[in-house]
Amino acid sequence: MNKKVTVVGAGFVGATAAQRIVEKELADVVLLDIVDGLAHGKALDMMQSAAVESFETSIVGTTDYAETEQSDVIVITAGIARKPGMSRDDLLKTNAGIVGSVVEQTASRSPNAIIIVVSNPLDAMTYLAWKTSGFHPSKVIGMAGVLDSSRYARFISEAVGCSIKDVRAMVLGGHGDTMVPVPAYSTVNGVPITELLSSDIIEQINHRTRHGGAEIVQYLKTGSAYYAPSSSAVAMVSSILLDSKRLLPVCAYATGQYGIDGLYCGVPAILGQSGVESIVTVPLSPADAEALKQSAHSVKSLTDALSI
Ligand code: APR
Repeated sequence: MNKKVTVVGAGFVGATAAQRIVEKELADVVLLDIVDGLAHGKALDMMQSAAVESFETSIVGTTDYAETEQSDVIVITAGIARKPGMSRDDLLKTNAGIVGSVVEQTASRSPNAIIIVVSNPLDAMTYLAWKTSGFHPSKVIGMAGVLDSSRYARFISEAVGCSIKDVRAMVLGGHGDTMVPVPAYSTVNGVPITELLSSDIIEQINHRTRHGGAEIVQYLKTGSAYYAPSSSAVAMVSSILLDSKRLLPVCAYATGQYGIDGLYCGVPAILGQSGVESIVTVPLSPADAEALKQSAHSVKSLTDALSI
């Protein structure tokens, strides 16, 4: 029997993630949105590409949480984007209401699922999802580091002039301006980029990575990135469903690693069928360790603002 993935939110990120999951034949998908007909229409459209794309997995669209029962993975992309004049706190409160209600509706119907949160502000929403679900923290994970690292990898391959296939990049910390690209663990086929690029170029790339989401919003004007975010979420879904145990930077519940305790923040972790199987700790340079501490500090302020 196929695995089952529920994707909540049939907007740009959710629908594209759903499309990637069925096209890769990773699982059958239930796509759910609060807007009547939206998920249904998109799911029908995707199913009508199955003959051409040649996939045998299925997707249904719905507004009814009963259809999400016994999912193996739940991907949460529901939420609103920050609108002009809206403060970060306003966004936090609005999306907290949405993510909280989505978790209430899904967690009880799929008590053995792994939850992957994509909605922003990511680190705080993941913490909220964990608290609301009552799940073990290893089963609630946020998607940010895979995306930020994928952006970093792209910029590295451009700067070095090498194949993207040889680049491995690592970005830790919160999903925002304080994220921490780690050059020492970003390599071209094992060669750290510090051996290949000047510190000025590395700093330029780090800066572009930190503002990678904003750069795209500037062009799109009315929306935010969704191709790379959906790819990144699906990489996590895949590692969980296939039990690949990939080492990926994800937003996980830290219990003292890197000096971060009782907080969801971006750290390297092994992802397998039980979710976060371990957080991998590696030595960081004093500058990167300090930057990660500062990033965790800003994640904590946002998480504390949830008052839960
Ligand atoms: N239940 C289900 N779906 C909801 C709910 C809810 N309570 N509230 C909103 N939605 C749906 C909307 O109807 C919409 O279809 O969530 C979807 C969000 O889609 P988009 O507005 O297209 O946003 P998207 O670009 O997909 O981003 C979604 O991911 O990367 C993050 O910052 C981004 O938080 C945002 C999220």
